[in-house]
Amino acid sequence: MGSLPRRDLVRAASIGAVVVAASLCNAAPIETVALEGRRLFNDASLGTTGLACATCHADFDEKALPDGLIRPGHQLPGVSKRTASVGWGFTGEGAIAKAMGACTGHFLRGKGVPGTDFDPAAELSAEQTGALIAYLDAVATGSEPLTLDAGRIAGAEDLGMASQAIATLTGDGARGRTLFFAACNSCHPAGAAGIGKSVVESKFAGTGLARYVRNGGRVMPWFTSDRLTDQDVADILAFIQTLKGQ
Ligand code: HEC
Ligand code: HEC
Repeated sequence: MGSLPRRDLVRAASIGAVVVAASLCNAAPIETVALEGRRLFNDASLGTTGLACATCHADFDEKALPDGLIRPGHQLPGVSKRTASVGWGFTGEGAIAKAMGACTGHFLRGKGVPGTDFDPAAELSAEQTGALIAYLDAVATGSEPLTLDAGRIAGAEDLGMASQAIATLTGDGARGRTLFFAACNSCHPAGAAGIGKSVVESKFAGTGLARYVRNGGRVMPWFTSDRLTDQDVADILAFIQTLKGQ
């Protein structure tokens, strides 16, 4: 691991320099497009919920350069090399562009289920998708894993069993506090309402709460077991109980 993070940092810095140099001499349009993609990636005004791509996805290699946050989505450098979106279930030509549109409509604009409530291919313009992909290609290092280790739990029955299994574990509230601030705080600041609703005032507890974390809500993202293990979720549940007790 020793030399890799440093190389990544140098590379990230040099991308910035190339972009600036390119805009000064008015050449190499791809770098300008990548810069626009970087802006879009961080732009919460693209939608209506207050979320941006950057809330849920890293634009760097999380394993090589961990920052302590636990994001529900994949890290995205080099994502255009993927031929399928495991989480959304899109495969084949344009799968990654569709996943971007699905995330925009579902999470950024609260439109519901992609393919049913809205067309994922119509959420972003070709220019916007192209800019996002150019940026994510520009920050790719080649070392980031390109697959999810765990899929979304499919089907109500499996989800019920998975959440019951979590609810039977004994949670460690102190550990859950750290995990809550890493995974949930961006939308539920200290447990209060923010982009999401108040978890302190929520009626969800135990199995129902575990299920919500694994399945997500209308806008809330789901967390697969490679982002939060069953024990992690049990610990978060225990921490939320202590918040409710206050
Ligand atoms: C509220 C959280 C959230 C937001 C905001 C969000 N995403 Fe996602 N995204 C997810 C989740 C969860 C998945 C499914 C798990 C996965 O595949 O990473 C996903 C999947 C994806 C995938 C498919 C990755 C793969 O390999 O399967 C792409 C591409 C993507 N998102 C791009 C974007 C872009 C671009 C934006 C901003 C316009 C965005 N997402 C905003 C949560 C989010
Ligand atoms: C990217 C934003 C986001 C993150 C991260 C997030 N949530 Fe949420 N959460 C929401 C939103 C938005 C809602 C409101 C319902 C909906 O739209 O899904 C919500 C609703 C909830 C509710 C239901 C409240 C109610 O009574 O209706 C619970 C419980 C909850 N979240 C717990 C969590 C926990 C625990 C985590 C961390 C593992 C977490 N959330 C992470 C956005 C988020």
